[in-house]
Amino acid sequence: MASQQDLDFTYTTIDKVFRLSMGETGDYSGAMYNGDFSLTLEQAQEQKHKFIADSLNVKPGSKVLDMGCGWGPYLTYATKKRGAIGKGVTLSKGQAEACRANGLDVDIKDCRLITPADYGTFDAVSCIGGMEHFCSIEQYLAGDQDKVYADFFKNLYELLPVGGRFYMQTMVFGKNMIPYEEISLDAPKDSDSYMLALMIAQFPGSWLPYGPEQVIRNAQPLFKLVSQSSGRLDYIETIGQWRKRFRAFNLTKYALYASLLPKLLTNKPFQDLIAVFRKSPNRVCFQRETMEHYRLVFEKV
Ligand SMILES: C[S@@+](CC[C@H](N)C(=O)[O-])C[C@H]1O[C@@H](n2cnc3c(N)ncnc32)[C@H](O)[C@@H]1O
Repeated sequence: MASQQDLDFTYTTIDKVFRLSMGETGDYSGAMYNGDFSLTLEQAQEQKHKFIADSLNVKPGSKVLDMGCGWGPYLTYATKKRGAIGKGVTLSKGQAEACRANGLDVDIKDCRLITPADYGTFDAVSCIGGMEHFCSIEQYLAGDQDKVYADFFKNLYELLPVGGRFYMQTMVFGKNMIPYEEISLDAPKDSDSYMLALMIAQFPGSWLPYGPEQVIRNAQPLFKLVSQSSGRLDYIETIGQWRKRFRAFNLTKYALYASLLPKLLTNKPFQDLIAVFRKSPNRVCFQRETMEHYRLVFEKV
């Protein structure tokens, strides 16, 4: 799985720029337009939060856990708009500090290892864009990917009552995914090989599930699937909106961009990260269906 260092590279590096672009508790995962692209990004993100809370039967006083809570968008919705008691965990130090400064109850903790001894049990659990990081390339190559997900669901089982629900959304590899051996930063710049290599540069230590089927298979028999829907087209729109917001002028943000220039000249991983922001490989991968995106609701049996 991706290490804390990997996740700090992906998320803490962009902490300030992200909050200046997307708001203090902005979402860093696909929104839910349901095909209505006249909605603003913020409306589509709130529609997603409502869908999650409704799917999980969140009520005033419900105790909810958000695994991989990012900057706390869903926790903010669940606690402030639905009256839930919210706990969040992330492996990014920058995100955890920002969440706490914004009044959210968040720890730096590996969500896959939480047991009832940590925080008791929960009425509902969510993981919005976290599963992408659960399996490393090394674990995939060693043939351990199914075990990684099965172990995750075994652990989750202990955190919920029978009938308790789990919402997750995750990027997955799509029907046009290429073999691992073909992925390379030296490939032609417009190729699938290069785009997927940029994804790995942005998310070091992370390898995606092969379709929702791999996740569903490993959730059974402990969890039954309640609903599933593709968020691929909604994610393409979300990424387009993120690009506009990352570019929108803000003096502090542009000063931050400028302060990063020396690093750009000397640091290769950082140069790759800049290429990611220029090319949006995730959008290209969704368009070409080397990647897909799924929202899944499970119930503990
Ligand atoms: C794409 S971001 C999504 C953040 C947030 N859920 C949202 O929708 O805005 C992925 C999040 O998962 C977290 N994450 C990944 N693996 C994790 C793990 N094993 N334990 C805790 N957090 C993890 C990252 O730190 C990051 O906060």
